[in-house]
Amino acid sequence: METSGFIHRFEKGRPEERPLVLLHGTGGDENDLIPLARMITPTAPLLSPRGKVLENGKPRFFRRLAEGVFDEDDVRRRANELADFVTNARSQYGIASPIALGYSNGANIAAAVLLLRPSELAGAILLRAMLPLTHPKPVKLDGVPVLIVSGARDPIIRPESAAKLASLLERYGAAVEHRVLPAGHELSQADVTLAQSWWNKKAPNC
Ligand code: MLT
Repeated sequence: METSGFIHRFEKGRPEERPLVLLHGTGGDENDLIPLARMITPTAPLLSPRGKVLENGKPRFFRRLAEGVFDEDDVRRRANELADFVTNARSQYGIASPIALGYSNGANIAAAVLLLRPSELAGAILLRAMLPLTHPKPVKLDGVPVLIVSGARDPIIRPESAAKLASLLERYGAAVEHRVLPAGHELSQADVTLAQSWWNKKAPNC
């Protein structure tokens, strides 16, 4: 299905539950994070777009110049485009503002949406995220709950960059929990457990 040019999946779930918007990693698609989301919550509405940027045929959410070096103009443009997609999908499907669940490139675009369109998301679970913009302008994220889970041995996302993202979001008012697992870039059962317990505490019905 397409809304605002994004191929996506939508699972209705229970309308009184806070929805999740699922943002896959490089080379993934709209199906990738559904099983993870369903481990976190069996019944929330799920909105899952496919990134529109292709890197050697692999879908992503924005252009990069090299691993970990982003085309920041494209980050801005794509984060706004994704935020518009979320707004349109909310009225099309009648859902409340969602919490983002992003992995790797998907976590980075979710962080960019928080920094550029702060009222679009009700919160975020950012798995293996880094700071996507070098000099973001201050925004108001008062009390927005954010879970960041990093891997201490992640060769792609430097732990300092995840820590910078956490402290910046905190400075702008978000309620950030940053956990560092003894893991690499891949997700582990510990990520699922952390995300489940955070969701149960932070994602009340809407
Ligand atoms: C990115 O490009 O967003 C990060 O380097 C993570 C990745 O997708 O490999």
